[in-house]
Amino acid sequence: MIKNDKGLFITFEGIDGCGKSTQIQLLDNYLKQKGYKTVLTLEPGGSSIGKGLRQILLHHQGFVDDCCELFLYLADRAQHMEEIVLKNKNEGKIVLCDRHGDSTVAYQGYGRKGDIEKINFLNTVATKGNLPDITFLFDVELETAQQRIGAEKDRLEKESFDFHKRVKEGYLKLSQKYPERIKVINSNLSVQEVFSQVKKIIDEIL
Ligand code: TMP
Repeated sequence: MIKNDKGLFITFEGIDGCGKSTQIQLLDNYLKQKGYKTVLTLEPGGSSIGKGLRQILLHHQGFVDDCCELFLYLADRAQHMEEIVLKNKNEGKIVLCDRHGDSTVAYQGYGRKGDIEKINFLNTVATKGNLPDITFLFDVELETAQQRIGAEKDRLEKESFDFHKRVKEGYLKLSQKYPERIKVINSNLSVQEVFSQVKKIIDEIL
């Protein structure tokens, strides 16, 4: 049981096409119906500065250096933590965030084969050591995820099958490292079947 008197910070993670953005909406509606004050946000792009960073990160045409990409995600996170996440959590709200620090470890660490230890350290700098209270990891087969993405792909979605395979495996390693925080959800099922797994965990927490 996680106490809710100072709000909660809940993150949604998984490979592209895992279905997390649908699930975050469903959870937002569910919590609002129950009378909780919620804030729905995302990374990159949840803050005013972040909107511009999201555009660059997802749609820049041409060469992007790995280190530049890493620092842009971290810059987005630093601003977003202060402007949106901590502010609302400290007001007692439930902050639902589509992606956070685990995405950087999974994508820039495992996906791009970056140095995980350095990324962990830089994540701590960007978040000032604030971790999510709970993280849902939507684990899905790569083929299913690819079908869900469809033909119109952003810069990251255009990465190779092997890249996304490393990201998926990276996420699962993270869930083994932090089993208390990261709850793995089987996202190969129907929207409602996936949501009932989320709801069960949330009902136990609140
Ligand atoms: P999404 O909002 O549609 O999930 O797109 C965000 C993309 O950015 C997605 O491909 C994952 C990627 N990403 C990273 O590579 N590193 C990060 O730290 C974050 C937050 C997202």
